[in-house]
Amino acid sequence: MAAFQFCPCAQQVHQPKLLLPPSLAPTRASTKIPMFTPHNNLLSAKFSGKPIPAKFNGSHLKSQIRACANPDSKGSKEEGLRIGIVGFGNFGQFMAKALIRQGHSVLATSRSDYSQYCEKHGIEYYSKMEEMCEQQPDVVLVCTSILSAENILRSIPVHKLKPDTIFADVLSVKQFPKNLFLEILPPEFGIICTHPMFGPESGKNGWSGLPFVYDNVRIAQGTEQEKSCAKFLSIFENEGCRMVEMSCEEHDRHAAGSQFITHTIGRILSHLDLESTPINTRGYETLLQLTENTVSDSFDLYYGLFMYNVNATEQIENLDRAFETVKQKLFGRLHDILRKQIIERVPHQGVPSIRDTTKTPYFLPKREEMRDLSSFAMPPQKEELPQKTEVLGR
Ligand SMILES: NC(=O)c1ccc[n+]([C@@H]2O[C@H](COP(=O)([O-])OP(=O)(O)OC[C@H]3O[C@@H](n4cnc5c(N)ncnc54)[C@H](OP(=O)(O)O)[C@@H]3O)[C@@H](O)[C@H]2O)c1
Repeated sequence: MAAFQFCPCAQQVHQPKLLLPPSLAPTRASTKIPMFTPHNNLLSAKFSGKPIPAKFNGSHLKSQIRACANPDSKGSKEEGLRIGIVGFGNFGQFMAKALIRQGHSVLATSRSDYSQYCEKHGIEYYSKMEEMCEQQPDVVLVCTSILSAENILRSIPVHKLKPDTIFADVLSVKQFPKNLFLEILPPEFGIICTHPMFGPESGKNGWSGLPFVYDNVRIAQGTEQEKSCAKFLSIFENEGCRMVEMSCEEHDRHAAGSQFITHTIGRILSHLDLESTPINTRGYETLLQLTENTVSDSFDLYYGLFMYNVNATEQIENLDRAFETVKQKLFGRLHDILRKQIIERVPHQGVPSIRDTTKTPYFLPKREEMRDLSSFAMPPQKEELPQKTEVLGR
């Protein structure tokens, strides 16, 4: 059953008509980028959002989180939050386990039907977004794919929610949801943008020491909203995460150079169908693991990392250039050696050949295989040599 009603603009995401903003436009003819992007206004750093009434002071927030993480130190048992998850796929379920573990109540809604799963795990499931909103959760946690986030957010009946509701997200890009929240949500709603830098694979043995990035975009100070925000963040503190407060813009710069590159390498390797061998090195084991981790995430997720992070295009081009540089170094050196070999083998008048020209030098691939390597010279065959010798000998 379809849980979400999409607004008409939803269709735009899949129409290859829109022009790329300058920040995403290809700069090299060789880079094949589909000529469309969704809602480039949301990718623009110049977005003018609704006024931000109040924002946490960093150190104040940290002490609040710690107080919530250790409620017993204050002698009182904190009441759990009611957290409504929107998008109950792979990552939404992974999040729900921790929220329940920490004593919070979890509600969920999604496009697919997860009612049986939820029943088993003590989660309230609502097939309709509207019904979940009527339950007025303290926090709405957006765990949908990056690609579907805008349509889903626009379909949320915000008037059904409490006026001080906090919206949080876990999208792997951050500027995009931040701008989207600021544009769509009523000004009194709180906004926390987060990115747990781990997933069901990398976090399956616990979250201790794993980075959790957050940006308190809009939280009213000295209110219940502030307390709920600290309580929400303390979930990750309690799980042992390394809490990293960082702006969404900075996150996206770092993530393009680290996470997006990692996913890209993993995706490339997956096309090589690598197999385990009896002589795996540690490095190779790491590559096999990387490939496995990468392909366990949906392609939508990977595409979202590319399309919704303004820094990703530059990174993929850097990667492309780096690969070309390495190839040039290899083939350039091979070319030099090959040329030397060719010249040395040519018998000069009165000087015997220093090498047996019937044998292919040991470091070269077979002649037939080299036909595919158009970028460097072919070694001369025996029958070709006299002709060249004659020419050179004249
Ligand atoms: N996987 C990770 O390691 C990881 C780590 C950190 C953050 N994240 C973030 O977590 C979010 C979810 O990631 P994921 O791993 O679960 O995979 P995903 O493929 O990015 O997202 C799957 C979720 O999006 C929903 N969805 C996809 N297309 C939809 C559409 N057209 N309409 C409505 N709902 C749609 C799915 O709903 P249904 O299941 O109901 O179809 C499911 O809940 C993403 O934003 C991702 O960036 C993931």
